[in-house]
Amino acid sequence: MEHSPSNKMTLLLLLLLLLLGCTHHGQANMYTGHPKIDSIFSFGNSYSDTGNFVKLAAPVIPVIAFNNLPYGETFFGHPTGRASDGRLNVDFIAEDFGVPLLPPYLRESKKFSHGANFAVVGATALDLAFFQKNNITSVPPFNTSLSVQVEWFHKLKPTLCSTTQGCRDYFERSLFFMGEFGGNDYVFLLAAGKTVDEAMSYVPKVVGAISAGVEAVIEEGARYVVVPGQLPTGCLPIILTLYASANATDYESGTGCLRRFNELARYHNAALFAAVSLLRGKHPSAAIVFADYYQPVIEFVRMPENFGFSRSSRLRACCGGGGRYNYNATAACGLAGATACPDPAASINWDGVHLTEAAYGRIAAGWLRGPYAQPPILAAVRP
Ligand SMILES: *[C@@H]1O[C@H](CO)[C@@H](O)[C@H](O)[C@H]1NC(C)=O
Ligand SMILES: *[C@@H]1O[C@H](CO)[C@@H](O)[C@H](O)[C@H]1NC(C)=O
Ligand SMILES: *[C@@H]1O[C@H](CO)[C@@H](O)[C@H](O)[C@H]1NC(C)=O
Ligand SMILES: *[C@@H]1O[C@H](CO)[C@@H](O)[C@H](O)[C@H]1NC(C)=O
Repeated sequence: MEHSPSNKMTLLLLLLLLLLGCTHHGQANMYTGHPKIDSIFSFGNSYSDTGNFVKLAAPVIPVIAFNNLPYGETFFGHPTGRASDGRLNVDFIAEDFGVPLLPPYLRESKKFSHGANFAVVGATALDLAFFQKNNITSVPPFNTSLSVQVEWFHKLKPTLCSTTQGCRDYFERSLFFMGEFGGNDYVFLLAAGKTVDEAMSYVPKVVGAISAGVEAVIEEGARYVVVPGQLPTGCLPIILTLYASANATDYESGTGCLRRFNELARYHNAALFAAVSLLRGKHPSAAIVFADYYQPVIEFVRMPENFGFSRSSRLRACCGGGGRYNYNATAACGLAGATACPDPAASINWDGVHLTEAAYGRIAAGWLRGPYAQPPILAAVRP
């Protein structure tokens, strides 16, 4: 075949057009898919702690399970203080925005220009003093509740920005996570002997504390706030083990999860969703996202194959010390007597309480782009 100069020219033009097309396409994606977020601030508990608890508890607790392998075996290759085999939702979301993985505030790395993580394993929405006053002694004595974490943020703020305009500019490019909160409050109330009905009576108070947290960061200039709800706690191996029932009617027929605990989670989520709607009306310049943990996890449990999880392990912890749900408190993941399953990516649940990196990755994608957040985070932060 003959290559005439005009043929060559056509080819060159075609290449150029293709190149330009690609560049244009890339820019379009950058604009709609990756809006400008330079920093992330996260408040919460073990579903988002990236190392605070380990730092806080090291001097007082001789053996911290989260500090031992197989925690961290996926991705990091060593324990990081995260309660999972690998990355958490906040990690995946940071990666999506091209922001460094959030440094835990208590590590005092002093490199918080791209945000900080205040979340602590075991943290509650309600203050420690409230539980102590009501004789709820099942709450560990770490003073790390939502309001304490917000205080840490107040303390950190002057190191991040100084002038009113400077702070406004900085926080306009920040994403805030207020939660998950509440799960521990209910767990500690139940552990103190309260019934699920009694735990439900605390929902307005817990949701009120979360709303107050959202307003506190908005007052400091936050513009984008993500508020995660509860997981279907009746599907967690720890709950299925501790509250096992001989009565089949206590279990949901489709999932095998404990009905009343899922009802408590849904009741909390409905109240939180309503509170978020009210906050949007009150703070029209802020974009507040309700992030759903319930829907994705219940879908994983119902149809594990659709998401790459194995059916046989859908209600079992990957890492544990045996038993029907592979959860045993005296041989918990990270302690002697517990082992991890060979393929954590095929499991939804990691250690009986927390999820695997595989599950978090799918949830984070659904929070960013839908369908697991209202509105999806990327839709909320789009200019
Ligand atoms: C927790 O810490 C805060 C200060 O951050 C303090 O005001 C409060 O009294 C403490 N609560 C308890 C129960 O120690
Ligand atoms: C807490 O326990 C103490 C000692 O048992 C009791 O005197 C007090 O009334 C209790 N307080 C509440 C709020 O139940
Ligand atoms: C099981 O629970 C249901 C609903 O609470 C109750 O009506 C039923 O009597 C219970 N069955 C047994 C065998 O306890
Ligand atoms: C839980 O683990 C402990 C320690 O390994 C063991 O003695 C106990 O039998 C286990 N319990 C169950 C229900 O498997």
